[in-house]
Amino acid sequence: MGTQRGRFGQLWLRQRSSAQVPSDETVAPAGRCGPAAVVAVRVGLLSTGAAAESGGLDRSLDRALAFYETRPRVERPQAGWQRTPEGLTDLRAATCGECHSEIYEEWRVSTHGLAWTDRQLQAEMAKSGNRWLCDNCHTPLLNQMESWVVGLTDGDVEKPRYSTNPVFDEAFRDEGITCAACHVRDGAVEGPTGIETVAHPTRKAERFGDEAVCLTCHQAVRSYPGKDFICIFETGAEWRDSAYGRAGQSCQVCHMQPVTRPQAVGEAPRPGRRHYWPGAGIFMVEGVGPPLEQLGAGLGVEVEAESDALVLRLSNSAAGHMLPTGDPERFILVEVRFADRQGRAVGETHEERIGQTWEWWPEPRKLGDNRLAPLEVREVRILRPAAADGWTLVATSHRISAEALEFHHLDGYPSSRVTHERQGDFPPP
Ligand code: HEC
Ligand code: HEC
Ligand code: HEC
Ligand code: HEC
Ligand code: HEC
Repeated sequence: MGTQRGRFGQLWLRQRSSAQVPSDETVAPAGRCGPAAVVAVRVGLLSTGAAAESGGLDRSLDRALAFYETRPRVERPQAGWQRTPEGLTDLRAATCGECHSEIYEEWRVSTHGLAWTDRQLQAEMAKSGNRWLCDNCHTPLLNQMESWVVGLTDGDVEKPRYSTNPVFDEAFRDEGITCAACHVRDGAVEGPTGIETVAHPTRKAERFGDEAVCLTCHQAVRSYPGKDFICIFETGAEWRDSAYGRAGQSCQVCHMQPVTRPQAVGEAPRPGRRHYWPGAGIFMVEGVGPPLEQLGAGLGVEVEAESDALVLRLSNSAAGHMLPTGDPERFILVEVRFADRQGRAVGETHEERIGQTWEWWPEPRKLGDNRLAPLEVREVRILRPAAADGWTLVATSHRISAEALEFHHLDGYPSSRVTHERQGDFPPP
């Protein structure tokens, strides 16, 4: 694959030379996947008001692409500008879902499908002029964005100069990391096999078979001297340095469960993968997310009660990267409490916090990091308080601290989940 600069230039040239004015009626080719698609006569994305002024679209897009080309890769729309493949009415996930209904239902409750409407993202974006940076990964197609950046005043990333996307479609933006962000390139649908269909042109792309399809967003580091934010996602590097990375066991192996089923309505079953991308299992909307059995907790907990101490073996038993990974605010809390025979609390509660510690003000600075490396086992000895007869352990996984929740006024926003609960007695002293 060429450099990103090359790719942008290339996409743009093809975009301009392709027919800019799609018809108002797109009739689905016969026999594609059932009535829903065949009766779908919808106005294409580019034709929503923009067809008449496609010269305007050309000019706006040209200016925006020229700007993004001057920025490093992490500051560009990760999926660029894409045109609708022949045979499809538009790029919306809802449209793909007319035929790929099961995959669509999985994606819809996934973190990717909720990556834009997420309340935390919205609260954070409202606080700075840097939201254009967030757009690039959370709505990775230029087509999805309400506005495009054409320059920065004084070169300041918090002072973008915007132009309006003439074909802006709010529902498409709200889809966040939509199907087309991973699957549509150069007017074709790309996938793991390139299987032929009359529904749309397809092309096999190697990135679906390995981590490349994930790392554009999950390996991204950039700092902004003098600013109170940073872009730091190092899951790719953590994975590469691990036994999983060395063995080529890609992200999909753990995060997209294998399944044999029809991949489009009415087709024969074929082996493929689920589109849930389960992670820490802390949903962004209460009750909306992948079934929890799709991926167990990354943390392993073993407890041994000795006569004078409680010995914990905390391990990163299942994650192919640091535990936790991703957002530097994530942490795991293991709390141990002691009680006497009557159940009265004795001694102090022991708290083991596993995660990174950052200072955000005036500039982000990492103060500490005690996360569990892949397959690491960490032993923690806690002295048995005098008079303690029994112990209880509760482990919880957190995405955001209580202080940050309060700061962003995110009342009622799900922020943690219990992963382990254990209890037992000490042997007689
Ligand atoms: C380079 C791509 C990229 C950019 C740019 C980016 N994000 Fe993200 N964001 C990610 C990835 C990948 C994750 C998943 C990591 C995780 O959930 O731990 C994520 C997760 C999040 C989450 C959820 C964290 C959690 O713990 O559940 C929030 C909130 C968020 N981003 C806000 C923002 C904001 C605000 C901006 C702009 C200032 C931004 N992001 C810019 C890639 C990006
Ligand atoms: C009118 C029905 C229809 C629509 C709409 C549709 N597809 Fe498909 N798609 C199919 C059929 C049929 C196949 C072939 C499945 C098979 O034979 O197992 C297919 C195959 C695929 C494949 C597999 C390619 C590979 O390499 O294995 C991908 C990926 C895909 N579609 C993505 C999409 C996306 C993304 C959209 C929306 C932008 C979309 N499709 C819209 C019917 C449709
Ligand atoms: C276009 C950018 C992008 C791409 C490509 C991408 N992700 Fe993500 N991913 C994100 C963002 C952004 C989030 C967090 C959204 C939020 O919390 O608001 C995320 C969240 C996740 C999560 C956390 C789920 C949770 O609820 O804890 C997992 C796991 C994940 N992605 C895996 C993958 C895998 C595997 C791939 C490759 C097949 C991939 N991602 C490709 C941007 C991306
Ligand atoms: C974050 C990237 C990402 C997003 C978003 C995404 N896919 Fe996929 N998709 C993949 C990967 C990776 C594979 C390859 C799985 C495999 O190896 O079988 C795949 C495979 C497929 C296939 C081939 C069948 C299969 O299961 O392998 C179809 C069809 C498909 N996706 C449709 C969709 C549709 C429809 C959407 C939106 C509702 C969507 N995808 C969203 C990454 C993505
Ligand atoms: C060996 C299996 C495995 C592999 C390989 C793997 N992961 Fe994970 N991943 C997990 C498990 C298990 C969790 C749940 C951790 C937890 O309990 O919080 C997880 C969690 C995550 C999260 C949510 C943050 C967190 O710490 O919970 C993200 C984001 C993520 N993985 C992305 C990726 C990406 C990107 C890749 C490829 C570079 C990848 N993973 C490879 C098993 C794996």
